[in-house]
Amino acid sequence: MTQSNGGTAVAASPESIEGDRFARAIAASKRIRWDIDKDVVRERVFNTAQKFLPDGLTRIEQFKFLSLEEQRYLSQIQGRTYANIFRLVERFVSALALTLSRDHFFGNQAALEALIRFADEELKHQELFRRIEGLIGDQLPGGYNFDWNPNDIARTVLKNSHWAVLLLTLHIELFTQAHYKESIEHDPNLSPLFKDVFLFHWKEESQHAIIDELELIRVDAALSEAERDRGVDQFIDLVGAVDGILQAQSIKDASYFVETAGRSFTAEETRRLKAGFVQSYRWQFILSGAQQPRFLKVLSSLINGAQTKRIQAALAAIS
Ligand SMILES: [Fe+2]
Ligand SMILES: [Fe+2]
Repeated sequence: MTQSNGGTAVAASPESIEGDRFARAIAASKRIRWDIDKDVVRERVFNTAQKFLPDGLTRIEQFKFLSLEEQRYLSQIQGRTYANIFRLVERFVSALALTLSRDHFFGNQAALEALIRFADEELKHQELFRRIEGLIGDQLPGGYNFDWNPNDIARTVLKNSHWAVLLLTLHIELFTQAHYKESIEHDPNLSPLFKDVFLFHWKEESQHAIIDELELIRVDAALSEAERDRGVDQFIDLVGAVDGILQAQSIKDASYFVETAGRSFTAEETRRLKAGFVQSYRWQFILSGAQQPRFLKVLSSLINGAQTKRIQAALAAIS
């Protein structure tokens, strides 16, 4: 990129390119800003005759021993947990954005504004997903349990370095977009309300991933080799902690399915359901994101071959 300087073309500095990217993220955030009631919910309720989460995300091929009606019910339970997991992680993401904004108080004002808008949007998303939990809860049977404490989880996550938490956040915000574009957008059989929730969420997440990447590069530039290496270990631990939550939630959700689907299941069917739920959730929240080309590109620009192998080994142990 070049810019005019009194008639002499000079290369734009990395700072001005970064400033442009923050400014574009702010402009996009202003342009697409939406309202939960007016734009997303629009006084609609969920219809249990419709699927919520698409087959590509539930990995429905694992559940072909269920009737079509049961497969649809499974997509509704997984869709409810899918929305709740976003609500959970957005607590630490908004706190992270506000914490990072302090570094820009007396510096890059575009970065400061972009991070404040980012945190504000994540607060709105938490409210959106609280509303969605209530609306789905109105339609599905009692007994569903998602009792994670978002503050406890956020406090634990934020004990790690900004580098590790930013990397985890970038991973989440990239797979959010991929899920919408690759699985949700083109599925004609999904609940229109569920689809709209993730359409509007996707629109704001696109800016967040850009900001994550810019902040990650800024934070990385100040690290020593030893600090970065510790960050790799922390990222692996964070992915392990996410997996612990997914394993526990998958057991709860599979048990809820068995108790409320309206028939008895054999021990083998119950075993397959429990194993299938954990595979679905690992795919949704860990493995699909770890394959995203943008994530791999950013990662390979920051860490060396040995560190990449450590991350790959940790992911292989999960899959
Ligand atoms: Fe979000
Ligand atoms: Fe986000």
